[in-house]
Amino acid sequence: ESIHAAIVAKGKQYFGTCADQGRLSQGQNAAVIKSAFGQVTGENSMKWESVQRTQGQFTFSQADYLANFAAENNLLIRGHTTVWHSQLPSWVSQIRDRQTLTNVMTTHINTVMGRYKGKILHWDVINEMLEENGGFRSSVFYNVLGEDFVRIAFETARAADPDAKLYINDYNLDQASYAKTQGMVRNVKKWIAAGIPIDGIGSQGHLTSGQGSNAPAAMAALCGAAPECALTEVDIQNAQASDWQGIVRACMQQKNCVGITVWGVRDQDSWRPQGNPLLFDSNYRPKNHYTTVLQAI
Ligand code: XIL
Repeated sequence: ESIHAAIVAKGKQYFGTCADQGRLSQGQNAAVIKSAFGQVTGENSMKWESVQRTQGQFTFSQADYLANFAAENNLLIRGHTTVWHSQLPSWVSQIRDRQTLTNVMTTHINTVMGRYKGKILHWDVINEMLEENGGFRSSVFYNVLGEDFVRIAFETARAADPDAKLYINDYNLDQASYAKTQGMVRNVKKWIAAGIPIDGIGSQGHLTSGQGSNAPAAMAALCGAAPECALTEVDIQNAQASDWQGIVRACMQQKNCVGITVWGVRDQDSWRPQGNPLLFDSNYRPKNHYTTVLQAI
């Protein structure tokens, strides 16, 4: 039984995973994705270093592959990600001048989002901008432009693809009492009140054993701060059944949580393969946790 079909039957938009050409061309990944999932996020193909490694030279072959796979198989797409300090070419992180960085950032957003205009459900416009203490991470964007980079990025993104829901995405938002979770809630409320076009908060959901039980209260806080919310990159190292139950319920219990994405198909293909963090085993068979997820939906 498909976890995507099950979650759609409960009023959500999707259950998805990450993928790119390499995985999709290998083994049974494409078949599993078509049968179990309804949404894909590019694991790497839409990141800055993948699409504009050299200034002004855009390379979309990997991203196009993913977008075409999604279109052919009727899968929704989360675009990931335009403004992020990581997987960012050094020609960008070396910029020290306000006007130059503004031009570079808006050109990047316009070009990437423009190419897939109308085809993307969500864009992670800004990824991982907060520190663990809830303050702003030191990045070229924050250091050169200050907090203004948030407004510039979201306003540019809104104009580039008016139909895409625009997200701010981060990790370690898995407990309501974390300073980072509270910083996200406080800032997003403030930015939305100031007219910045943020549609949703994405909580990545990279968990370890025992953290699932905190997820519902954390999502309640995050989902209360924006029109919508999503779990965007879930994996759980050494998960117990209660962890998968907790993370799934965290979304199910919030009316405006639109979907859940896990960060990969097979345990061994995970970006952090320790502790078997995903839902499929090495033979592409659904694990017991897959049934746990199905039952928690
Ligand atoms: C990871 C990918 O899974 C890896 O293949 C890559 O080497 C590094 O990035 N947060 C994010 C994702 O927003 O883009 C990251 O993906 C995992 C952490």
